[in-house]
Amino acid sequence: MFRKVVCARWFSLHKLSWAGGSLKPALVKDGSLRTLSTSARRSTVMQAWVIDKYGNNSVLRYTKNASFPIIHYPNEVIVKVNAAGLNPLDINMRGGYGAATLAMKRDPLSINKAGSEFPLILGRDVSGVIMECGLDVSYFKPGDEVWAAIPPWKQGSLAEFVVLSANEVSHKPKSLSHVDAASLPYVAATAWSALVNTGGLNKDNSAKKRVLILGGSGGVGTFAIQMLKSWGAHVTVTCSQNAEHLVRGLGADDVVDYTAGPVERKLHTLEKFDVILDNIGGETEHWALSLLKPWCGAKYVTLVTPFLRNTDQLGLADGMMQTAVTVATKALKHITKGVHYRWGFFAPSGPALDDVSEMVDAGKIRAVVEEQFSFAQVPKAFEKVEKGHARGKIVVTVTTEQEE
Ligand SMILES: NC(=O)c1ccc[n+]([C@@H]2O[C@H](COP(=O)([O-])OP(=O)(O)OC[C@H]3O[C@@H](n4cnc5c(N)ncnc54)[C@H](OP(=O)(O)O)[C@@H]3O)[C@@H](O)[C@H]2O)c1
Repeated sequence: MFRKVVCARWFSLHKLSWAGGSLKPALVKDGSLRTLSTSARRSTVMQAWVIDKYGNNSVLRYTKNASFPIIHYPNEVIVKVNAAGLNPLDINMRGGYGAATLAMKRDPLSINKAGSEFPLILGRDVSGVIMECGLDVSYFKPGDEVWAAIPPWKQGSLAEFVVLSANEVSHKPKSLSHVDAASLPYVAATAWSALVNTGGLNKDNSAKKRVLILGGSGGVGTFAIQMLKSWGAHVTVTCSQNAEHLVRGLGADDVVDYTAGPVERKLHTLEKFDVILDNIGGETEHWALSLLKPWCGAKYVTLVTPFLRNTDQLGLADGMMQTAVTVATKALKHITKGVHYRWGFFAPSGPALDDVSEMVDAGKIRAVVEEQFSFAQVPKAFEKVEKGHARGKIVVTVTTEQEE
């Protein structure tokens, strides 16, 4: 079946409403009223890990009374979570990173008062099963095994259920367990957005292109190496020495240990690159662009940008202005030297995950799960991610109390 990308905003829709435990939703579409047929009677609350304020690990709270997600738009689905993945972003969001921008995205007209995002559920990766579909969803049906990367402005996967747009969801690779599947969507969608949408690479034009990944041993890097190798690119990676075995096993052609002295000196001895993906940021910007082939469309794409930090510190208007000035200045400075400077961002995409799913089932991409935690151990999982130097992903298995 072909995927139809649906824009939710064409519809005017009543919230689904609950009455005495049974669902009696009503939808207004083009002025006519329809009653939805729904799945069986269910609870209005669920288990979840939430935060009620920003802070360190102590703000994580387990509850059995989190609000059950509701389908608001006809293109949405409710997914029962089998496994959730954590990313460095979860640690940052727990501490309030990006709060100003994400609040605007959740509530563009500022109708709700400050703090209305709480209780907030973290967790950006989900692998699970479709439980219910909105009226306009034809690509999925209840019972389908799916995976998705959850946008940071939506409630996350450290819960029994999550509601998502069908455009963000994809059929899970058949060859992966839910735990392995939950390690990939967020890093896959980020690497895809940075390398394909921003870097201009794809399966048809990557053969023999030279790509450098700065910080190749983490979640984004380990995925990017595999995707690029399956497209025929030549991949050079920087990482610490004890990650060399991992990245070589994933296909990296050249590996440079950044802990063994100035990494840029070693990189300058290599042939120049067509694309650089920077997962490290900071100092790297000062030397990395000189490693690109000049005047032939070569691109440097960094995932470490001040965008959310600016809006957190300066407010929305000034922060966005500052951001625009910064990126434009840097892009202009480098274009005069014949190379392109770009910022890369995570972008949720079911269609991109459809392609990734095929690559996984074809054996071209494997999951790199560093450690698995149970639902009861969510705070421990956060500690692990926070310590850094992950080799792959931290995955939390979500099981309900009855199942445990
Ligand atoms: N803009 C966006 O929308 C977006 C989206 C996703 C991620 N990101 C950012 O992208 C970056 C990568 O994400 P991730 O999930 O892959 O993070 P991660 O899993 O923490 O991986 C980072 C890796 O970099 C390595 N590293 C640290 N310092 C290094 C250095 N100086 N040189 C080379 N390698 C170094 C670390 O391993 P070893 O040093 O032990 O080898 C670690 O494995 C993060 O900064 C994240 O915040 C941005």
